[in-house]
Amino acid sequence: MLFDLTEEHIAVQLAARDFAQNELKPGVIERDEQQKFPTEFIKKMGELGFMGMMVDPKYGGGGMDAISYVLAMEEISKVDASCSVVMSVNNSLVCWGLETFGTEEQKQKYLVPLAKGEIIGAFCLSEPEAGSDATSQRTTAIDKGDHYLLNGTKNWITNGGSASVYLVIAQTYPDKGSKGINAFIVEKGMPGFVVGPKENKMGIRASDTHSLMFTDVKVPKENRIGEDGFGFKFAMKTLTGGRIGIASQALGIASGAYELALAYSKERKAFGKTINQHQAIAFKLADMATEIEAARLLCLRAAWMKDNGQDYGTASAMAKLYASRVAMWVTTEAVQVHGGYGYVKEYHVERLMRDAKITQIYEGTSEVQKIVISRGVLG
Ligand code: CAA
Repeated sequence: MLFDLTEEHIAVQLAARDFAQNELKPGVIERDEQQKFPTEFIKKMGELGFMGMMVDPKYGGGGMDAISYVLAMEEISKVDASCSVVMSVNNSLVCWGLETFGTEEQKQKYLVPLAKGEIIGAFCLSEPEAGSDATSQRTTAIDKGDHYLLNGTKNWITNGGSASVYLVIAQTYPDKGSKGINAFIVEKGMPGFVVGPKENKMGIRASDTHSLMFTDVKVPKENRIGEDGFGFKFAMKTLTGGRIGIASQALGIASGAYELALAYSKERKAFGKTINQHQAIAFKLADMATEIEAARLLCLRAAWMKDNGQDYGTASAMAKLYASRVAMWVTTEAVQVHGGYGYVKEYHVERLMRDAKITQIYEGTSEVQKIVISRGVLG
């Protein structure tokens, strides 16, 4: 594994940093408070090539590697984790899944506009009673010949209200366990498909998270992804890459909070000197910087393994487990460095602390990552 970034990597990193600092930062507090979905910024991210970064250019994507994706995710997440979760789901869960397992017709119809950021997608696995235990799908997809009849409810769906295309996981053969599950492309507007109310969340408040209800939704057979019964493996393989995206989001939240704490510590005076000259704060910053660097290396390692065709399942779970823990710890410390100012909205760190928590929950809780890692290390 090389530790130097290429010129192309640095160009992507700088473009994402410039966009995040100059365009996302000015309104981020208001969007969080008002739970305002960042429609115009997602459109701009599409124009900049951030919505389908790793997709082949022949399908409208950027043709970039996973390392570029980690770098861009970190920069955008430093400022606005609501935007970066939209980006992460679209890139890793929706575009990657369709490009890797979709038919040519599915790619032309759905992947091309998704990769260009003209529309956005959602990934629908979680249910009221199937979160970590993803095999226990209650949503059913009954084979009716030329179509499937979809019935059930999905919960906590990122981009639930704003997406146009939904990848929905459902049970076709309940007696076959994980091998009886299928994945489908469902379009907003299909009769019987209803988007539930938006969740009022602790963090990533500008992203829109909804439950979805399906009542006798007719899904054409050509909208099934992969072979009959491939849905669970489709979901697991897709989430394996998705975890690199969320690990990078956690990394960005941590490094954004660290940069704010570092800058504040150089300005704020106490007991006759700036607080960074007090060992209590200097040591905190040293610990924060070290933890972030370790998280960054895990993210880049998982991405490098993906780019080089290696099995990255354990590596991506390790990156997510560690980076999300670092995000929670660093953001809490960043609030502490700011003292009372850290507890009010205008200093940004309280939002980053709230945003950090979700990285330990979605795309597999920390406990799920430990299941995946322990299986990996125990063989
Ligand atoms: N890649 C390929 N195949 C995999 C796989 C992977 N990563 N993981 C499992 N499989 C295969 C297994 O090999 C097995 O296949 P065979 O039967 O042919 O051997 C099959 O899938 C069943 O696997 P398991 O028996 O291991 O399944 P399990 O029930 O023990 O579950 C689990 C394992 C890791 C806990 C899994 O259920 C899981 O990952 N749960 C968490 C789900 C999750 O991440 N949800 C997040 C929702 S999406 C989201 O949050 C997006 C968002 O909004 C931001």
